[in-house]
Amino acid sequence: MFKDKFKVDIAEKTAQAFRDVFPDLFISRPDLYIFDPDRLSERLETPKNPEMGNYALPLFDIAKILKGNPVEINKRLAETQNSRTLHPHLVFTAVGGFNNARIKTETLARDTLTTILEDEQDFGTSTEGQGKNIVIDFSSPNIAKPFGVGHLRTTAIGHSLYRIFEKLGYNSIGINHLGDWGTQFGKMIVAFRKWGSDDDLKTDPISKLYNLYVRFHQEEEKDPNLSEEAREAFRKLEQGGHDEAELWNKFKEYSLNAVKKTYETLGVHFDHYTGESFYNDKITPVIARLRSSGLTKFSQDALIVDLEEYNIPACILSKADGATLYATRDIAGVLYRWETFQFEKALYVVAASQKDHFKQVFKVIELLEEREKIPASKRCSGRLVHVDFGWIKFRDEMMSTRKGTIIFLDDVIEKATELARSKILEKNPDLKEIDKTARQIGIGAILFADMSTRRQKDVNFDWDDVLNFEGETGPYLQYTHARLASLLRHYEKKVSPEIDFSLLDHPEEYRVLDLLYKFPAAVCQAAETYEPYVISTYLIELASAFNKVYQRKDDSGRIDKIISDDAVLSQARMALVNCVKIVIKEGLYLLGIEAPDEM
Ligand code: ARG
Repeated sequence: MFKDKFKVDIAEKTAQAFRDVFPDLFISRPDLYIFDPDRLSERLETPKNPEMGNYALPLFDIAKILKGNPVEINKRLAETQNSRTLHPHLVFTAVGGFNNARIKTETLARDTLTTILEDEQDFGTSTEGQGKNIVIDFSSPNIAKPFGVGHLRTTAIGHSLYRIFEKLGYNSIGINHLGDWGTQFGKMIVAFRKWGSDDDLKTDPISKLYNLYVRFHQEEEKDPNLSEEAREAFRKLEQGGHDEAELWNKFKEYSLNAVKKTYETLGVHFDHYTGESFYNDKITPVIARLRSSGLTKFSQDALIVDLEEYNIPACILSKADGATLYATRDIAGVLYRWETFQFEKALYVVAASQKDHFKQVFKVIELLEEREKIPASKRCSGRLVHVDFGWIKFRDEMMSTRKGTIIFLDDVIEKATELARSKILEKNPDLKEIDKTARQIGIGAILFADMSTRRQKDVNFDWDDVLNFEGETGPYLQYTHARLASLLRHYEKKVSPEIDFSLLDHPEEYRVLDLLYKFPAAVCQAAETYEPYVISTYLIELASAFNKVYQRKDDSGRIDKIISDDAVLSQARMALVNCVKIVIKEGLYLLGIEAPDEM
């Protein structure tokens, strides 16, 4: 948890003021913990209208306990709060039933800006996670199928969470649980033998494999025998058939190379590529363990864990022919990861359509630990989180790999880069590194779009929207950042912390200061809720607030320039510029997005 020192201060002063105003109450009712600073601090809200102050304490519940009118209580409270010190850095105001607290401009500016100028990109970094492992299972495409845009959101969100937790001092461990095992490989083997050739794989492996995959499903509809052939091929593969294994290896190698190239383009890194096949030799002991715990039973020759009692569909561990399933490998995966990493949390960044799957897996683990009477401190079941998310829709179309309507991620990246390039050529044709910048902007647009809504909501992907330099987009943030960088280049003096902070006294500037000061809290909130969205909306607010400073007009209606003849004033404003630039850059970094200095 992030400790907001102003919040602590406000809560303490308020608690004291309550005691001063209602001394009798506290003598007769020492049990009123609601007036403890810690509790009051939890009740502090952020006012919708920033003019009201940085924090507001609603007094309605409290007034009931005090058996009084909230407005009356508020007046007396605010008077007492303000009378306590001669040179207060906090000002309290009573507005109806809300007790508002405002940090004085100079204090807020000095405190926030000096910290940011000193810490730079480490602003908001903490050590709360030190010594703790966070395992993040993300991206995890099914290889031997192309890397489709359906896996874009897990890649974006997972990678961002990786960086957010790292910033809080955790040891993030990124795991790619590749879909490299399962009946689909039986289909691929059959399809390859019938219609494929080694030459195909050498020239254009990914789309050739994809075509085989689609063709198999088309032919299967006409000839149901193919399904049986595929099952047989997979059974052979599972039992160590040499020819099948050779083909499988080939598919895997080619696909993995292609997938890794895409990650490189996106700047995404994994600590482990341990896909489903990694668990092949770990499953037998896990099944034995589940059986001896007494959790399992047979149903139509399949080995299952019945979860009806919990309103969850039965978890099938192995089929009548001995084939294991996706869930079996995930159960083995949880136990393996727990043993290997003793994680604080294990996150599974996977689409909401797999909700039941994770309910099954997590429940089986929980029941197993109960049955085995594992002491609470050695259990992992409370630490597993399905970080689910909604669909991404391209003009309201869902994606289906089987029917061949997939949209390839590489094509999306290429298209975004091309669109970004044409924007650059239009706006700034003299830019030095056009190729590199176009890629950064294109990728920024795609990644930001994935994290611009709460993860459980669907994303409607529209090319015009995501690349709009003026909308709520990645490129808008990158563009704001580049403008700040350009201001700093033009301002030749060094921005020093010797600043008259009281000069940043316009409401527009105050709003920016307030947001800057709340960045560390936003990072914590993003981690607590597993929501990169907290960072993305924060950055949009910050950039828009700054753009209001930038466009502010003075009393005569002229733009009040950041850099003017007034050296002292310019110095103070440039400190603000520098800090906003630092925070936008770091926030974008946490989203996995680069921030070029020129664009
Ligand atoms: N390969 C799966 C898919 O594409 C996602 C795997 C997610 N991770 C996991 N441990 N199940 O649907």
